[in-house]
Amino acid sequence: MARRTKIYEGKAKTLYEGPEPGTIVQYFKDDATAFNAEKRDVIEGKGVLNNLMSEFFMLGLGQIGVPTHFLKRINMREQLVRSCEIVPLEIIVRNYAAGSLCKRLGLDEGTQLPRPVVEYCYKDDALGDPLVSEEHIAAFGWASQQDMDDILSIALRVNDFLSGVMLAVGIRLVDFKIEIGRVYDGDFQRLVVADEISPDSCRLWDIKTGQKLDKDVFRRDLGSLTDAYSEVARRLGVMPNNPPSPSKPTLVN
Ligand code: TMP
Ligand code: ASP
Repeated sequence: MARRTKIYEGKAKTLYEGPEPGTIVQYFKDDATAFNAEKRDVIEGKGVLNNLMSEFFMLGLGQIGVPTHFLKRINMREQLVRSCEIVPLEIIVRNYAAGSLCKRLGLDEGTQLPRPVVEYCYKDDALGDPLVSEEHIAAFGWASQQDMDDILSIALRVNDFLSGVMLAVGIRLVDFKIEIGRVYDGDFQRLVVADEISPDSCRLWDIKTGQKLDKDVFRRDLGSLTDAYSEVARRLGVMPNNPPSPSKPTLVN
């Protein structure tokens, strides 16, 4: 078997050259990190769950006309995506106060925001992905004004879509982060949703109980991350037939 060319190894995924020019294979690892990788662990089965959930969200976005980099899922851990140039911004949309917003503005966790709030962080691990304003983005040329208009519109459409999908399965979408890529078609550039959409990059709370079903379980040591992610996958109907290493014993006949 031919050896693949590794393009990039990130904290939760590894990227390999795809079978055709302009394609990339995204391999979802089981590694979990938080606080800029100060806290790390390997959570068996996380990569499989995130691969399946990200496929589900990207396909759904495609169906409502939001362009994404997703082409097809290859197997339980890998998906084929269009290669794109990642805009060096993390785009965060918040519906309820949580995480760094609570710290920054002294809000109580769970306070509903008067409207979705969109924030931008500059993607730079060494700097800890600092919050930046549109002034910084324009001044340093990270994205044009046209790009920013398109990014805002995409971010709000993703928010409406994800909020609705989650609400339908009894989950509140508190906030999420997306990344945007540039794809070139001849002389034209299009923006697409890239990277992944999974409980690693969202805050998800059970509507009835408030139970956290996202990476905060790992960040704050609130229990089993596999159980939390499996619950989201099960409600969305994308749970694999052989659930990855359940932490509870199951009855074998
Ligand atoms: P924050 O409240 O820590 O700023 O996080 C906002 C959202 O962004 C939350 O859904 C978690 C997600 N996020 C990432 O996906 N990657 C990150 O590196 C960080 C810090 C947050
Ligand atoms: N993804 C980031 C990291 O590892 C932070 C986080 O999600 O909390 O370091």
